Amino acid sequence: MSKFQAPKGVSEYFPPNSDQFEFVRDKLINSAKLAGYSLIELPVFEDTEVFTRGVGESTDVVSKEMYTFEDRGGRSITLRPEGTAGVMRAVIEHNLDRGQLPVKLFYTGPFFRAERPQAGRYRQFYQVGIEAIGYNDPEIDVEVIAVADSAFKALGLKQYKLNITSLGDSSSRAAHRTELVKFISTLKLDDETIARSKLNPLRLFDDKRDEIKQAMAKAPLLLDFLNSESKSHFEEVKRLLTEIGIEYTINPRMVRGLDYYTGTTFEFDHALLGAQSGIGGGGRYDGLMNSLGGSDVSGIGFGLGVDRILMAALAENSLPVELNQIKLFIVPITEQGKNEGFKILSQLRAAGITCDMAYGDRGLKGGMKAADKSGALYSLVIGDDEISNGKCDLKLMSNGQLISSSLTASELIKRVGNSI
Ligand code: HAM
Repeated sequence: MSKFQAPKGVSEYFPPNSDQFEFVRDKLINSAKLAGYSLIELPVFEDTEVFTRGVGESTDVVSKEMYTFEDRGGRSITLRPEGTAGVMRAVIEHNLDRGQLPVKLFYTGPFFRAERPQAGRYRQFYQVGIEAIGYNDPEIDVEVIAVADSAFKALGLKQYKLNITSLGDSSSRAAHRTELVKFISTLKLDDETIARSKLNPLRLFDDKRDEIKQAMAKAPLLLDFLNSESKSHFEEVKRLLTEIGIEYTINPRMVRGLDYYTGTTFEFDHALLGAQSGIGGGGRYDGLMNSLGGSDVSGIGFGLGVDRILMAALAENSLPVELNQIKLFIVPITEQGKNEGFKILSQLRAAGITCDMAYGDRGLKGGMKAADKSGALYSLVIGDDEISNGKCDLKLMSNGQLISSSLTASELIKRVGNSI
């Protein structure tokens, strides 16, 4: 065992499988870019209050899972457990909401939650997220959901399901809260659960204990308390989803793990992932900017879990077999061959062809072994004869077929380049 190990519960990606992680992440990003979202690159740590105020004290994320520490200047700092609160902090700080609306942003990177590690649940994990800020109409809710859905489709995923509900506007939530609090007061609960329900009574819908689940089976549902405005917004979201062919299930008991949500909320689950089946989720957060000291601007977004989406794609066997394939692998067998090979390599790379070479004095056998291991499409042996004749054989690695070619970069680029 090596002297040092990675901290418990983190996800790490290294060759050869890191190509798959990169492929998945890039597909998710690409879907956001196709819909006009631009990159926002933010720090992985923020003032702790950004999250306590933004995400909410009733959540597990804030109350149990944050990596919080004091920096050398005595400030309380937290490693970001999620992206939305930090994006809002940046939007307010840099006045991004003063221009054309909606502001459409995407981000990607590591997030940190001190959860109990298990398959698909990590303490450092990766998300691709988007946020559309400053526009309130149902089309933007549907656009955000559609960006996630098309990313999953681009990855060839099939066995996922979209759950949606609406938390309504503040007056709908207030009407429901009164009834829910009344209902909860009739239940026998421990002190901790009572304290939690006082911060946010909706949290009890998310309680995993059987007795609470049973008790909450008869609780009043927010969806039944939507006023006409919230109801028609949600109706329009559903209509538009159907219009663009996105299937959904309405789940009125769905509670997201963060407190800032209002209106449309949604989650994507994957059928083959077991307990940690949530591959992404999001929703509207119309009061968040305001609670962080900004203007009263609405927003909606999602976070997609790259680690879990990769697991889902592997489970569905939907990833291409060869990613970032090396097209040509050069095997030099003499000093001169090394020199020539090195020159050709740099010319091929300048032409955008992925290529590599056997370093060190490996000889023919060792060099071919390295070519084989690299997964290259073609190999090329270069010795003194090839150089003096100006001719060489490209070997198609899959079946050993030899293709003769002149030993010039331009000819090799043509041959290898055309085969892509
Ligand atoms: P979230 O539902 O907390 O939402 O996280 C989004 C996704 O991140 C989850 O669906 C899951 O795939 C992944 N994820 C969360 N925790 C872990 C973990 N410990 N290990 C592996 N994957 C994990 C948010 O974070 C919101 N900021 C999304 C959002 C953006 N809402 C509005 N805008």
